[in-house]
Amino acid sequence: MKKIIIAIDGYSSSGKSTMARELARRIGYIYVDSGAMYRAVTLFAIRNGMAADGKVDRDALVKHLDEVNVSFAPADADGMQHTLLNGIDVENEIRDMAVSSLVSPVAEIGEVRERLTRLQQELGSEKGIVMDGRDIGTAVFPDAEMKVFVDASPEERARRRLLEMEHKGLDVSYEEVLANIRERDHIDSTRKIAPLRKAPDAHVLNNDKMTPAQQMDWLLSLYHVVSNE
Ligand code: CDP
Repeated sequence: MKKIIIAIDGYSSSGKSTMARELARRIGYIYVDSGAMYRAVTLFAIRNGMAADGKVDRDALVKHLDEVNVSFAPADADGMQHTLLNGIDVENEIRDMAVSSLVSPVAEIGEVRERLTRLQQELGSEKGIVMDGRDIGTAVFPDAEMKVFVDASPEERARRRLLEMEHKGLDVSYEEVLANIRERDHIDSTRKIAPLRKAPDAHVLNNDKMTPAQQMDWLLSLYHVVSNE
């Protein structure tokens, strides 16, 4: 079987990351969460007073972009990969609502996208990688052999995200989560550079009514077809 690139794009909280990580584990591929990279840059901006109250100081962030180093620590025992900002583990902090509410404006900045896209392309240079995000099949790896576009209703996505956050002991309401999902969907799909779009050759996975096991069967069958072509 040849090594390929698997691009999984889709709306916020559609379960992309969980399925991409599990798929990578099953087939022995590297998994990269590109959203975590945008989240890490956002955390940098917040910590350095360049983002607050829903606004990002674009010029200041672009000026200091060279000081932002995003990398990943190898997966730990439960297969979780940790995101590092300038060498420090920020995996928990980047999942906060404060970061979620500022990440889409940060991800609209061309210079931020250029820098992270380059890094993502380097990570995939040897193939054998599963990467999830918004523009992986369209902008980062337009030639990826396998592309999946994940969709589910905003309400179902908010319900799942809320459960995940409650599980972590975070105090948020369903309304707050749903509003954030709708806002990010809007910014992500209407921005000028690399908007969230289904690539013409992507396979659509609507997982509203699918169990995780059904989803994995669907992905593995597609992978076996594509990697044997
Ligand atoms: O966890 P969730 O699915 O809600 O989002 P994420 O994958 O962590 O991505 C967070 C945000 O980063 C998105 O809402 C986008 O604004 C941005 N992003 C992007 O612009 N391009 C990517 N390839 C990945 C994420």
